[in-house]
Amino acid sequence: MSFQFLDPEVGFTSQVITDPHRFVGRADLIKESIDALNSSLGLIAIYGKRGVGKSSLTRQIQALANGNYELVRKAGLSHLLPQKLRKYYTVYYTCDSIISGAQDLVSRLCNDTDEEDGLLRLVPDQGKQLAEFSRSAESSLGLDIKVAKWGAKGQEASKYANAVPGDVIQTFRNFTSAVVEYNNRIFSKRDSVLILLDEFDVIKDKQGLGSLIKSLSSDKVKFGICGIGQDLSSLIADHASVGRLIEQGSIFVKPMPESETREIFKVAEHLYKGKVKFEESVVKKIALLSEGYPYFAQLLGKACVSNANARGTNLVDNEILNLVIENIKSGRAFPNLETAYQRAIGQSEERALLLTLLAEQADECAEYDASLGRVFLSRSRSSAQELGVDYMDQLLPRLIDDRYGPVLVKVPETRGSYEFTDPVFRAYVKLRHIGRI
Ligand SMILES: Nc1ncnc2c1ncn2[C@@H]1O[C@H](COP(=O)(O)OP(=O)(O)OP(=O)(O)O)[C@@H](O)[C@H]1O
Ligand SMILES: [Mg+2]
Repeated sequence: MSFQFLDPEVGFTSQVITDPHRFVGRADLIKESIDALNSSLGLIAIYGKRGVGKSSLTRQIQALANGNYELVRKAGLSHLLPQKLRKYYTVYYTCDSIISGAQDLVSRLCNDTDEEDGLLRLVPDQGKQLAEFSRSAESSLGLDIKVAKWGAKGQEASKYANAVPGDVIQTFRNFTSAVVEYNNRIFSKRDSVLILLDEFDVIKDKQGLGSLIKSLSSDKVKFGICGIGQDLSSLIADHASVGRLIEQGSIFVKPMPESETREIFKVAEHLYKGKVKFEESVVKKIALLSEGYPYFAQLLGKACVSNANARGTNLVDNEILNLVIENIKSGRAFPNLETAYQRAIGQSEERALLLTLLAEQADECAEYDASLGRVFLSRSRSSAQELGVDYMDQLLPRLIDDRYGPVLVKVPETRGSYEFTDPVFRAYVKLRHIGRI
């Protein structure tokens, strides 16, 4: 077979995965999602560490809610589908840290004109017509209704018949109550509206969000929230007020098992239509190095393909992987991670050493334990001293300073204990210095 130059982006991606064909594993979470979608009441909460695959799962939930069961078929889970699965009109909104609190969030939702994911596209208005269209290509499989025509530009909410000036909560209620009935007259029947809120954790003032969601949820409106957190309380401060709403829909996204990470390479080979081959031992090693974070596996896969291109081969063997690892060690492989690394260490070899020692600490607890991923200053003290780092405590502040990351955060309950804010960065640090110590 003759060599063919391949685009690394075809097989691998660092984007959130919307296309079910690219989405690997997570069978247990898919099952939980189906159950959660099928209960008429209740809030769905998707949480887990940074970069573990939460948004991608949430996009798959959106697809399922829309009645696209490709993912379920692909995973061989069709038998789990109930006779009739509830169908939803879906809204997907990514929160940001400028949203101050509950009112602000609802106001954003009421003004979101996004053509694929926004609430306003579903709200009836004289000047606006909706049209169903089926999507085939990647990126849009999860979504299926789009505004075909806007009367005017459709920017200001007050234009809508049901908007109540100065009262966003009531406006939201009016909007959502109109959605199902109105759209069902035009499209096939759906049961409810699903409002998915990604990056929910960044909202500043979390007080009252739980009770707001509870009061807005109904047979016709369901919420799904997604964000970084080890448990529900880190996502919703007043989680007690959502109480039983959450019983069914609590979805904790764990790091991927190695077998699933390996699947990413099967999918890539498929996307390249068999034009590239990853040797078994390479895939195993990458799965190990990525520590359950699919983002890192995707990055390494991409880097392997571009190095193979440079070598004029379509076979990714250990030699190619070693090239990639060499590039990581010298900081040339992944510019974003390298920038974060340099900013954190601030030209101090000693700080780099401390960071590496911390990253290399072994985990003692089980996978489901909340303390997973914690590191302890005391455990690295003697190795640091052996390596000539005497003033460990003076090196630390920069690592926990907002201005330089932070790459570590203090765990409040336990003295001298920290957590890497980004597990992918931790995996990178480990590789970055291999061989130097
Ligand atoms: N099931 C999956 N199969 C293959 N790749 C995945 C899967 N889930 C996530 N990824 C990949 O992992 C990376 C991170 O995914 P995603 O953005 O969904 O994670 P996240 O938990 O939402 O991250 P963040 O905490 O930064 O918001 C992306 O590169 C994505 O392509
Ligand atoms: Mg995300």
